[in-house]
Amino acid sequence: MKIGIGNDHAAVEMKMQIKEFMEGLGHEVVNYGVDTPESCDYPEIGERVGNAVASGEVDCAVLICGTGVGISIAANKVNGVRAAVCSDTTTAHLVKEHNNANIIAFGARIVGVETAKDIVKTYLEAEFMGGRHERRVAMISDIEKKNSSK
Ligand code: RB5
Repeated sequence: MKIGIGNDHAAVEMKMQIKEFMEGLGHEVVNYGVDTPESCDYPEIGERVGNAVASGEVDCAVLICGTGVGISIAANKVNGVRAAVCSDTTTAHLVKEHNNANIIAFGARIVGVETAKDIVKTYLEAEFMGGRHERRVAMISDIEKKNSSK
């Protein structure tokens, strides 16, 4: 798969390790994040990665900031993005199986690197279950459509 990765200054080291980990699993990884510890604004990275996913430039993406929250909120403002914060592997497979999440996010200040690797691997190996979940994901798209002209 072609996977995007994005991070702010709170997650430079974690980003490097997760990028290398995903490449080791055989994926192509596109880096949209920052590579230095100077303070930056996570909404810009979230929007950039959200657009890359929504446009199909990458198949899915990983976002990392201090908590995973701010950067995922920003990405979720892009139509078509379903970014989910995961701090454990159960959430990581369920967000793919039930919500068809196209971005996972986590916090470099919340999870250790080994847990982060487990989360990423679990998410990448999971599959969307469809069925009743398809209908619910379509309902989320409808909310976007209803609100995009406001
Ligand atoms: C940066 O200090 C921090 O606010 C950011 O990484 C993130 O945790 C925001 O949600």
